[in-house]
Amino acid sequence: MDWSSRANGPLHGSVRVPGDKSVSHRALMLAAIAEGDSHIRGFLEGEDTRATAAVLAQLGVRIDTPSSGERVVHGAGLHGLRGTTQALDCGNAGTGMRLLAGLLAGQAFDSTLVGDASLSKRPMRRVTGPLALMGARIDTHDGLPPLHVHGGQPLQGIRYELPVASAQVKSALLLAGLYAAGDTEIIEPHPTRDYTERMLAAFGWPIAFAPGRAKLSGGHVLRATDVEVPADFSSAAFFLVAASIVPGSVLRLPAVGLNPRRTGLLQALQLMGADIAVEHRREAGGEPVGDLVVRHAPLHGVELPEALVPDMIDEFPALFVAAAVASGTTVIRGAAELRVKESDRIATMAAGLRALGATIEETPDGAIIHGGRLGGGTVESHLDHRIAMSFAVAGLVAAGAVRIGDCSHVATSFPGFLELANGCGFALQVAP
Ligand code: S3P
Repeated sequence: MDWSSRANGPLHGSVRVPGDKSVSHRALMLAAIAEGDSHIRGFLEGEDTRATAAVLAQLGVRIDTPSSGERVVHGAGLHGLRGTTQALDCGNAGTGMRLLAGLLAGQAFDSTLVGDASLSKRPMRRVTGPLALMGARIDTHDGLPPLHVHGGQPLQGIRYELPVASAQVKSALLLAGLYAAGDTEIIEPHPTRDYTERMLAAFGWPIAFAPGRAKLSGGHVLRATDVEVPADFSSAAFFLVAASIVPGSVLRLPAVGLNPRRTGLLQALQLMGADIAVEHRREAGGEPVGDLVVRHAPLHGVELPEALVPDMIDEFPALFVAAAVASGTTVIRGAAELRVKESDRIATMAAGLRALGATIEETPDGAIIHGGRLGGGTVESHLDHRIAMSFAVAGLVAAGAVRIGDCSHVATSFPGFLELANGCGFALQVAP
């Protein structure tokens, strides 16, 4: 299913983006191994998070759906999951597969985790390596999925310094640490999102954490709790860029999660001259949230501070579009992780923007993007939801229509994007 996006004048209105993907995955997993029933509200009805729910159901967890965006998880307890000989399909979700690898490493039974074509190309040694140090036995195919997790392995806590900043790896180790003897301590080169830590604490597991470190010990109990999932900042990001670059636009994005480890794009866009206000800052479900109001403003290129990279790791495709239509040059460094996301996001964004007439140089860990005008053309999404949505935004300011190849993966993180986008002024269509 290809999409076509074209300019259509200013964007207006209020855009309520769906629930946070990272929080939804974690809420399901912790609720599944807690004692008692947990009610999750604001759950992301995306393919990634539904895949995690389906995997947990295969492992014997009862999960009810009273309405869209709601789940009631009947916790099986720390040792209550049941093994299955069927493969556990994580779909497109790196978060699902890596966190489940940690969770399943501590079980009494064997499991096999599989994924789609994109996930099957993503590196898994970053989790299986340190899990092996804890005593886990996980077979990979040359470091790639499928993963075969051997059950019945006694785990031992470790102190582990992550070589790359990764919330997924940190979370996998913490989940394995629940089943390990002794302490598991993780030290990060740069702080990453701390949802696992916050949520473990909310489910009553003793954990000490601060930006860049976390420590827990095995042998406690998770107690069911209700989880309110904030709107996903990463989904709001496309609208922040869209309204910034389309003259005359004003958009309001209510109740967006503003965890500081997620909002690097806000700072990056503000450095580029964007007009984005945060109103009604408050707490919901233990997370900072606020309403974002974004107005069009002329953007200029910047040397992106490297310290912002981990806090906006999923927002680079959208930032590339902003940089491509800003005045002057934007330099991105220290972002080599982009090469191992749902696609190689440096290569796929560079290829697509070039197809629309932009001037962009790829570097091993970033890009140099010379701002200018975009024309119409055809770009590929490479099975990557965020690439597809970013080019839908590019179409708003391109001189001709932008055709985006195979946008079906948008539903992994943002079901209803097309309708929501058109509701505030996009002209986005399924292309014939
Ligand atoms: C995520 C962590 C990040 C991010 C991904 C979600 C998470 O991945 O890119 O979309 O929920 O922990 P890495 O840990 O690989 O950086």
